[in-house]
Amino acid sequence: MTFVCRWNQRYIGHTLRKAPCSWSHWLRPVARACSAGSIKLQAANPLPALRHESILSTVGKTPVVKINRLAPEGVNVYVKCEAFNPMGSVKDRLALGIIEWAEHHGQIKPGQTVVEASSGNTGIGLAMVCAAKGYPFVCVMAESFSIERRKLMRFLGAKVVLTNPAHKGSGMVIKSKELAEKHGWFPANQFTNEANAWIHSQTTGPEILEAMQGVKLDYFVTAYGTGGTLKGVGQVLRERSPETKIHVCEPDNAPLLYSNTATEYGTDGSFKEPHPLWRPHLLQGWATDFIPKIVDDAVQAKFVDEVVHVGGHKAMATARLLSQQEGIFTGTSGGGILACALELASKVPQGTNIVAMLPDTGERYLSTPLFADIPADMTPEEKEIAESTPSQAPPGISLPEVTQEAKDFVSKMNSEHKCVIWSLEYCEFCWTVFKFLDAINVPYHVVNVDAFKYAKDNQGNKYRAALASMTDCNTFPQVFFDGEFFGGAADACIKFKKGELQPILDKAGLNNENFGGYSGDPFEFLPKWMSQNPLRSK
Ligand SMILES: Cc1ncc(COP(=O)(O)O)c(C=O)c1O
Repeated sequence: MTFVCRWNQRYIGHTLRKAPCSWSHWLRPVARACSAGSIKLQAANPLPALRHESILSTVGKTPVVKINRLAPEGVNVYVKCEAFNPMGSVKDRLALGIIEWAEHHGQIKPGQTVVEASSGNTGIGLAMVCAAKGYPFVCVMAESFSIERRKLMRFLGAKVVLTNPAHKGSGMVIKSKELAEKHGWFPANQFTNEANAWIHSQTTGPEILEAMQGVKLDYFVTAYGTGGTLKGVGQVLRERSPETKIHVCEPDNAPLLYSNTATEYGTDGSFKEPHPLWRPHLLQGWATDFIPKIVDDAVQAKFVDEVVHVGGHKAMATARLLSQQEGIFTGTSGGGILACALELASKVPQGTNIVAMLPDTGERYLSTPLFADIPADMTPEEKEIAESTPSQAPPGISLPEVTQEAKDFVSKMNSEHKCVIWSLEYCEFCWTVFKFLDAINVPYHVVNVDAFKYAKDNQGNKYRAALASMTDCNTFPQVFFDGEFFGGAADACIKFKKGELQPILDKAGLNNENFGGYSGDPFEFLPKWMSQNPLRSK
């Protein structure tokens, strides 16, 4: 029996009105769809969706989010999530501020190269702003900062000049100055540029007050790198929310402000000598080895009510807790600031409101100690979950009938070339063979059976069927030497190690210069994610 579904047909329109259907086939999914449509989301961004004319107008207006599970009952701890900026950090603001300020004041010429010393976030922000505005950008960075930062900048079209980590942050600043002077580049000078604090007084500070409208902001907790956030937000808070106390975090092993050792500055705001108390610390983005003039300005202006300290391990543990218990992802420095904010929250009266800065995203720290304990392999618990069901393989594709034409094609390729690799375009095992044969100097011919050119009329699968009928093998790559089927990627690696591949190549006339002088372990070409690969951790 069939029914025409009239129920709710105005929602689903034309198709259903015309389609006869059985209850079981049609009505249940329709009913589900209708009730799902009427659900009101409890939590979704309430703001209107905006259309932007350029990426640059997406900088700022980052959300202030309440901590619901980590804060003590009755104390309101909020975090300002700077990871929401387009390149994932508070420094996107600085980058935009510096370039727009320079343009406004005629300090930069169209197309002029911008140069800056940065441990990463400023460089990434500048790389983004310069890409959008058409300025070449060179970032100077100590080799010790995370690899992903360099790669991000290069991806954005910037050049990255690495400096000796022993020369510390001050060495980066010196190198950047040298380059600017030698090549006539525009120095962004984040440590002395007045646009730095200015942009935070125009954006970050007012945003915090706007977000906290209607409640008294008791504490603002931040750290300092250049001091732009501290000075710019400090100015706004002192003017518009004078009762807000400002707490400033430092690494516990580099307590520069706490030490009360004054830094001397030149007329251009540059420091004369590095700070004697600075030690390497885990809080990338905080305290470099001198107190920047902008930080000193904030101290002199009495924007700092208290200096607080936290260690790198506590910072990392707090960043991880924040991720796992609140779903908020930040880097080590955000963990450090939040740790200080939570410490404060444990001592203040109920009803206190605290805003803590989270300067950047945790994704910037994948290769740093923050992720050192995060395993890549399955843990015993995950293995137990994996083993709790059979892991049934999905059905394979069914191959078409073997045709003579396809068999002829396969035979022709195998006879025309001394080495043929039948492969799939995006198969890492196929790439293993390519890389290995390149290393041992063996030329080869590749036929990608899943290439677009073989898609018409299922041609590629016809070749696959013909191959399978000849080799009795369904996986890829399938390697042929001198018309003979040899095997796949693992076969090539294992047999070379055992010395069994070499005579086959000799016989086929494919030994060039003693296998290109290769003396490595071919397992190095297998995918690194393969848990059976003994070279994987190397
Ligand atoms: C990763 C990171 N970026 C930026 C900042 C803020 O830097 P600045 O003082 O230069 O505004 C900090 C410190 O709070 C930080 O930890």
